[in-house]
Amino acid sequence: MIQKVKGSYDLFGKNSRNFVSLIKFLEKIFSEYNYKFIRTPNFEYSEVFHRENEFSDMVIKETYNFKDQGNRNLTLKPEGTAGVARAYIENKLYGDDTLHKFYYIAPNYRYERPQKGRYREFFQFGVEALGSKNASLDAEVVYLAYDIIKRLKLGDVVIKVNSLGDNESKKNYEKALKKYLKPNINKLCPDCQKRMDKNPLRILDCKIDKDNPILKNAPHSLDYLSKESKQYFNEFTKILKKLKVNYEIDHKLVRGLDYYTDIVFEIEAKIKGFGNANTIGAGGRYDNLISDLGGPKTPAIGFSFGLERLLMALDELNIDIDRQTNLTCYIIALNEKERLYGLEILKLLRENGFYSDLTYMNRSFKSNLKKALKEEPKYLIFLGDNELKNKNVSIKNTKTQKQESIKLNELINFLKEK
Ligand code: HAM
Repeated sequence: MIQKVKGSYDLFGKNSRNFVSLIKFLEKIFSEYNYKFIRTPNFEYSEVFHRENEFSDMVIKETYNFKDQGNRNLTLKPEGTAGVARAYIENKLYGDDTLHKFYYIAPNYRYERPQKGRYREFFQFGVEALGSKNASLDAEVVYLAYDIIKRLKLGDVVIKVNSLGDNESKKNYEKALKKYLKPNINKLCPDCQKRMDKNPLRILDCKIDKDNPILKNAPHSLDYLSKESKQYFNEFTKILKKLKVNYEIDHKLVRGLDYYTDIVFEIEAKIKGFGNANTIGAGGRYDNLISDLGGPKTPAIGFSFGLERLLMALDELNIDIDRQTNLTCYIIALNEKERLYGLEILKLLRENGFYSDLTYMNRSFKSNLKKALKEEPKYLIFLGDNELKNKNVSIKNTKTQKQESIKLNELINFLKEK
């Protein structure tokens, strides 16, 4: 038997319903905030991701790289931001001097060790706002992430924030961190020892050394911010407070990718047994990325969530996002005559915005009923000789079990009143 590739998954049944419901919910909220849909290719020329200044494990070790038949070096998209930046430059969107606010929902590919909430093909949804550096914009982006969580009623979630500062602040901080860590290098894990030269900030993010007292006592990036970056961070947190965002400062938050400057943040759930999969989303400001890719110097900020992780969290907490798309009516029809009448009713229901369905299988009453109830409709509609003759429907509330007979031309009003 041919099996799916390790780290990938098939989606059907309840999970696919939740997936579709979540996408509908996201499209609505992103539109409310005036973010416009953007799609970029699932593969790009490798240099879009493998940039001179990018030393993150994700890019160096985890990308799917291949040559196509024209001997071009291509990489499957491991994250959404770099492709959006490339599209922004290529389509000269900087030319019109406006802020571009984009959202995406798209698959990504990383050659990671698969585990709970970690796949090799996974979906990210996120936003990127390109063309402005303004603390209110940063606060809007964080608030949007917060709003998603709030509206989904995800409960115990914390937004962690930090600032790496501008280029000057980052350099000073890296220098101070190296100075502090160097004498203790032998007490760090082998990976961190390798990170010391090119990527010292990443040492703070190490999962192996996370409780190592050396890291716990490391200097804080906030103490190395330039005057402008400090002011910017203060302004940003002031707005978050005003918006009543439940955030906390995490001095060890540096993020995996190297393109970040100033504001960085992560959205963390606190679900038992989830481990690292509790990091459901993350983002930050990346004011160098567009110029690193050959575009003009352009400030930008964004975030992405792991869609599967969010779905897993909702499932674990028994939060039903499928409610909006649940069926109002399921019509039980047992023969072609009843089905024909059923189709007439379905047409009426759907024209009036009631999600509905009909039994199309020639099964017994009992098994049709069982299948229909599995879809959890609010009402069952039964059709028999009497109903056909009098243009009636027998409608049963599946919760209260109350059944009544009403005229077909009263059905829509009946449902609207309920
Ligand atoms: P990231 O932290 O690499 O950031 O990924 C964002 C989110 O994607 C993570 O918090 C996690 O929920 C999800 N994720 C990452 N890897 C996997 C995986 N293997 N399986 C399942 N879910 C995963 C970025 O990708 C940045 N582009 C975020 C950003 C947008 N920064 C600015 N704009």
